[in-house]
Order: sequence, then structure tokens, then C-alpha cells
Amino acid sequence: MSNRYQEVTTALRAEPKNWLVTGCAGFIGSNLLEALLVMGQKVRGLDNFATGYRHNLDEVQKTVTPEQWANFSFVEGDIRDFDTCRKAVDGVDFVLHQAALGSVPRSLKDPITTNAVNVGGFLNMLVAARDAQVQAFVYAASSSTYGDLEELPKVEERIGRPLSPYAVTKYVNELYADVFTRSYGFGSVGLRYFNVFGKRQDPNGAYAAVIPTWIAAMIRGEDVVVNGDGETSRDFCFIDNVVQANILAALAQPEGINQVYNVAVNARTSLNELFDYLAKALGNNGIVYDRQPVYRDFRAGDVRHSQADISKAKELLGYEPMHNIVQGIEVAMPWYTQFLR
Ligand SMILES: NC(=O)c1ccc[n+]([C@@H]2O[C@H](COP(=O)([O-])OP(=O)(O)OC[C@H]3O[C@@H](n4cnc5c(N)ncnc54)[C@H](O)[C@@H]3O)[C@@H](O)[C@H]2O)c1
Repeated sequence: MSNRYQEVTTALRAEPKNWLVTGCAGFIGSNLLEALLVMGQKVRGLDNFATGYRHNLDEVQKTVTPEQWANFSFVEGDIRDFDTCRKAVDGVDFVLHQAALGSVPRSLKDPITTNAVNVGGFLNMLVAARDAQVQAFVYAASSSTYGDLEELPKVEERIGRPLSPYAVTKYVNELYADVFTRSYGFGSVGLRYFNVFGKRQDPNGAYAAVIPTWIAAMIRGEDVVVNGDGETSRDFCFIDNVVQANILAALAQPEGINQVYNVAVNARTSLNELFDYLAKALGNNGIVYDRQPVYRDFRAGDVRHSQADISKAKELLGYEPMHNIVQGIEVAMPWYTQFLR
């Protein structure tokens, strides 16, 4: 654990704060909720269950103590409604804004709804948080903002042209955040997540991410389908690293605010390597998968390679990822085998 993270979490435990986690019924949001409650924080959650689930909240409840759970209050609502956002931020110290419609293919199919939630909803949250004078506004940005830039590793200052409507919405978030700093003096921190994975990531549906989709297929004994030749690569980031980055960002020192950071590991794993890691981890959990992957066409809007330079987050936030991809898969696999079998 980084010294800074230890310092920050110790201070939070000693003096709990009020947090708002939007998208708290989703994958990343529910993990943030769990981590904050375990630290004794008071958390309000906002979600409309568009892609999140009540069973994620139920699972968090089972994981924490009744005393910790009593510190949670839930608002069922839509960030496209400004009044909902205004009420949700009332009395809050820190906002971790995760609610959005993820998925590149979803945005290609329905750019209007993706824009309404990811841009309109984001702006509502930003205005509400500014008006409520919260201490910190941390939001989920995305590695998709690097678009067609081929240079590796990706450094925050250099981006390419967006490859999907989803990428546009996430970049617009950064532009709004920046303009709110210059126009209103309202600071915020954007976290460009790179392919996050871990427990409670949805394995179902057409828009599921690669790791849960493949694990589900392997557990069910179905074909694992690879888009392209399998040499496409990503900087897969375990959820605990993302939780750490959010908490550090909320408590950032002045020089760390009004910034955008890569949140990843600074490693590159091809889909073919990922297939092997998952099959091996499943084997360690008593499930043998002996089929070969099935290759099909490349998917529209996907970037070929991705790897993050994480030195900015290390330097300004004290971020120190604790899990590489293999360690993260090892931690996450028992959850998948328990919930998908
Ligand atoms: N998972 C990743 O690899 C990844 C990578 C880059 C960025 N992100 C970003 O991180 C954030 C969280 O992603 P996730 O993977 O947990 O996705 P998720 O779909 O599991 O969670 C998103 C949550 O937001 C909620 N939501 C959606 N629209 C809403 C609305 N209009 N009002 C209120 N709530 C709404 C959903 O119901 C869901 O619970 C998103 O902003 C996403 O764009 C994720």
C-alpha cells in the first residue's frame, strides 16, 4: 500500500466523511460503496438501475457489518433529472461520479441515449456539485479518449480522435470539468480508467466486457469468441486499484486537483494471453476449460493496443497499483465461479 493511501485511509477512518457515489448499483460503484462502508464512511448512492442491479447492493450489504450498512442511504433516480442530482449532493463532502452508459457498441447503436446520460447527466452532476460546494468531485473518465492515437504508453497530455460516440461523451466530460475550473473555480479530478475488471462486473448481455464474458463462457463450457486475431492488447486494471485511485483523488493535495489521470497498471496483455490466464485461473478453481478460442472479425470502434503511463497518478496522487492482471484474476475468480456456476 502506498504511504499516501495509508495516510488518507487512516485519516478517513478517524474522521468519517459524507460521500455520494453515483452508479452505486453498478460494477465500479458497488465496489466503491463497499470499500467506503468498510472504512466507516457515510455513503449516499444514486442509481436508476439502467445497467446496475439491486443484487449488487444486496451483496454489499452481506459483505459489510450491520453498523456499516446503516451508514448507507440509497436514492433511486436518474442523473438526467437535475433536481435528483441537486438533492443527491446535498450535505455531501465528496462525490465519486460513476453513473454513465458504458460500452462502445451500445453508443454506436444508440448515440442519443448515451449522450443524454453521459453528457447531459454529467453536466447536471457537475452543476449540482458546484452549487453544493462539495470538497471534491471525482469522475469516471475513460481510456477511450485516446481514440486513434497509436503512441504507447498513453500519456494524459496527448490524445487522438475519438473512435466512438462513447469516447466523445467521455472526452466532453473532461472538457466540461476543465471549463468549470476556469469559469467558476470549481475543481475536479478525472480518472481515465483502462479496462477495469473484478467482482460484480456484469457477465451478461451484448455489452458485457471481455473478462466476465469469457469467464462466463468458460464456466458454461461454451465457445470463447475473440474479436480479431487475439493480438489486440489492453492494460487491464483490477478493481481494487480503481478504488484506491478514487479515494486518493477525492483527498488530493491542491496540485493534484483540476487534473485527469490514467488509472491502470502500465502493462499490456494481449487477448490471447488473457485467454490463457483465465483458463489457468479457472483450472485452479477446479474448472477445466480445454477448448480453443474462436476468432472472428475485429469489432468497430475498438482501439488496437492500449497501455497507460501511470507516472502522473503516482506522482500527484500517490497512486500505487497493488494488483497486476494475474493477481487480480486470482482474487476475482472465486467470485465468478460462485456466482456463475
Ligand atoms: N468498466 C470499465 O472498464 C470502465 C472503463 C472506463 C470507464 N468506465 C466508466 O466507469 C463508470 C462505471 O462503469 P461500470 O463499469 O461500473 O459500469 P456499470 O454499467 O456497471 O455501472 C454504471 C452504473 O450507472 C448507472 N446509471 C446508468 N445510467 C444512469 C442514469 N441515467 N442515472 C443514474 N444512474 C445511471 C447504472 O444503472 C449502473 O449501475 C462509467 O462512467 C464508465 O463509463 C468504466
